Amino acid sequence: MEKQNLDWSNLGFNYRKTEKRYVSNFIDGKWDDGILTEDTNVVLNESAGVLQYAQTCFEGLKAYTTQDGQIAIFRPDLNAQRMEDSAKRLHMQPFPKDRFIDAIVETVKANASYVPPYGSGATLYIRPSLFGSGPVIGIKPSEEYQFRVFTTPVGPYFKGGAKPLTLCVSDYDRAAPYGTGHIKAGLNYAMSLHALRTAQQNGFDENMYLDAATRTKVEETGGANFIFITKDNKVVTPKSESILPSITRRSLMVVAEKYLGLEVEEREVLFEEVKDFAECGLCGTAAVISPVGKIDDHGKEIYFPSGMSEMGPISKKLLETLTGIQMGVLPAPEGWIKNI
Ligand code: PLP
Ligand code: COI
Repeated sequence: MEKQNLDWSNLGFNYRKTEKRYVSNFIDGKWDDGILTEDTNVVLNESAGVLQYAQTCFEGLKAYTTQDGQIAIFRPDLNAQRMEDSAKRLHMQPFPKDRFIDAIVETVKANASYVPPYGSGATLYIRPSLFGSGPVIGIKPSEEYQFRVFTTPVGPYFKGGAKPLTLCVSDYDRAAPYGTGHIKAGLNYAMSLHALRTAQQNGFDENMYLDAATRTKVEETGGANFIFITKDNKVVTPKSESILPSITRRSLMVVAEKYLGLEVEEREVLFEEVKDFAECGLCGTAAVISPVGKIDDHGKEIYFPSGMSEMGPISKKLLETLTGIQMGVLPAPEGWIKNI
């Protein structure tokens, strides 16, 4: 397979049109067979549920070129399940989970020339989305839906790659208790844009959101979960009903325990404890593990002992082990890698 002629090692996290995308429509009470198309445009009724009432959810996962030159996808079954959970919470017609995985495999195959080569540091980001395409005007769920999968080759989510990030504690809330924080609804990201731009204008890379009810517990950032390392090398991650259950974070907990022999804790994390951790990282499909060097709480600064110039040693081990599994360098737990 001839690869595209791209500067793989210098890709940012941007949209780039690739050859084919998958589209299926739910009309008259059933999903059609779905097709691969070159058409990047979606034509919608002006009153479509997605446009009027933000009835939309999405997923994010990656395809990798492994050490032996195959293409692998990481845990797509968990994205299929999470998209079903998102669809149900938004009262949308779920796309069948087995077809979700088939659609991803087909789309990646059709864009194989865009899967970055092994060792380039880049990956093919896969973006499935599901949205209400039929007209609504009273507040109600759409009767028609579209499911799409497109791909785009990407480099690091944060500019500067492994350089530690600076966060600020946000004055805004990301998610309400019993709200939609635990699903991947487009609306969660729409309402985070102003908070993100505000943080960036103040010189920060991202926000740390605290729990909306008490503002005492760590939640997550706009696009990633937190992991912390204690001074005695325990891996701690916040437990909350209003954060997105990150597949990367769930995988890292297994990696920490089973591959690195570290103790792991998923529990409520008080903001008050954060100053005592040795390392802090953001984890997600896009972020992988991005180290955090400093958190600003309204002028009060917390510096992690891992410093502002490189990733802490435990975060680095976790990152190397996870990417080793994804790239086929290390053996993967049963069912984690789908070769295509
Ligand atoms: N939290 C939020 C709000 C996200 O958007 C993402 C990205 O998907 C994550 C966490 C990380 O989740 P995952 O590891 O499944 O990509
Ligand atoms: C991901 O990690 O896949 C995300 O969705 C984060 C962000 C790009 C929305």
